[in-house]
Amino acid sequence: MHGARFSKFGFIMASAGSAVGLGNIWKFPYMTGENGGGAFVLIYLLTITFVGLSLFLAEVVIGRLSRGDAVSAFESLAPRNGNLWKYSGFMIFTGILILSFYTIVIGWIFKYIYVSAFSLPSSVKEAGSSFGGMLSADTTTQTLFFTLAFFVTFFIVSKGVKQGIEKINLILMPLLVIILLILLAYSFTLSGFGKAVAFLFVPDFSKVHSSSILAAVGHAFFTLSLGMGTIMTYAASIPKDANIAKSSLMVAVLDTVIALVAGLVIFSFLFHFNAEPSQGPGLIFISLPPLFYQLGILGNAIGVLFFMALAFAGITSAVSIVEPTVMYMIDRFKISRTKSLVILSAVVYLLGMLALLSNIDELKKYVTFFGKGFFDIFDFLSSSVLLPLGGILIAIFVGFVIEKNRLYSLLSPFMSDSIFNLWYFSIKYITPIGVFAVMINKIFF
Ligand code: PHE
Repeated sequence: MHGARFSKFGFIMASAGSAVGLGNIWKFPYMTGENGGGAFVLIYLLTITFVGLSLFLAEVVIGRLSRGDAVSAFESLAPRNGNLWKYSGFMIFTGILILSFYTIVIGWIFKYIYVSAFSLPSSVKEAGSSFGGMLSADTTTQTLFFTLAFFVTFFIVSKGVKQGIEKINLILMPLLVIILLILLAYSFTLSGFGKAVAFLFVPDFSKVHSSSILAAVGHAFFTLSLGMGTIMTYAASIPKDANIAKSSLMVAVLDTVIALVAGLVIFSFLFHFNAEPSQGPGLIFISLPPLFYQLGILGNAIGVLFFMALAFAGITSAVSIVEPTVMYMIDRFKISRTKSLVILSAVVYLLGMLALLSNIDELKKYVTFFGKGFFDIFDFLSSSVLLPLGGILIAIFVGFVIEKNRLYSLLSPFMSDSIFNLWYFSIKYITPIGVFAVMINKIFF
């Protein structure tokens, strides 16, 4: 059913490649900016620790035990009613919604590789108006870069995940980390650094409302690639003797550290220039280019490398968003990888264009729904509704449906009994009840 399995390191790299993406560097900083800073970060960190990590391991467990696509996994692991449980596997389709806006953002990043090389803005103000102009009026540029990002992503998936993408990951992920560390070192020297630390780590609960709690919880799912079968699908190809507990922990820690470093860099710079933290999705495109400009020709180089590494981080995640559905189509309908990609890409391209056009001022009135653009709707629906729902299903499935002794015999070589019990408690009660409570809270309050 599956091709070659990952190596142990390959699994960690592939899941880290999936987890570390635009969620960390594009989304986390701008969401933190929009939701008032520290309190949002705290809720996000708590969710990662008490829910995200357990759920990550739960997805690995499902994949490792079933060795199949997500739909077959639910079907085959349920001791009873597998024919009903299999529908939980349809959580993979959330990926179609995520991918349609994700690819647009990768397109923006492509454009900013070019901007970094040739036309860096000299101030935050200039950067803001040029990004805003592209987003709200420049259909041609956006379509061009979106189409490019779209083809690159689907081309790589067509080659299979292991060959091209894993190799590229091995070079570009460390490069991204190095660039972020250089930028972090530079931001120490800026007057905004202290403010950035305070903004990120001193919680102000007066700024928290039910929608920011839901946003933080949803983002914890998004950033760890949880709730839509990605980790499950990757774990189906994990080698038998891999330490799944340690691998899960490593991915979660790496993902969180990268998000926090990106946040520190971006806010240091924004506060240095007295710019607003709540710039929305344009935040990194507005805050970083003027910093690169200040560094002269070196800045051009760092800018190009930064956006390139970011593009690759995005692409390795995009690949992992497509893969569960592709795997499902190949396994269940016995069609080729190419054929399933053609079908899938037609849907994604259509939805992506819809999302893109919904940001264009002139067209907004034709492509909005309940006053919201499709870009925002796809983002909200996937992160704040579908991923958490997927997470609840996974938690219930692992906590109440799969037999406990199966879980224990898989996990006990890698953890003490008390950690196992803690994990099991979190999956059975904390995760489903906690996430459900947050969603209900948002609907009613
Ligand atoms: N985790 C990825 C990011 O942070 C996005 C993602 C979501 C990937 C869901 C796979 C599945 O950018």
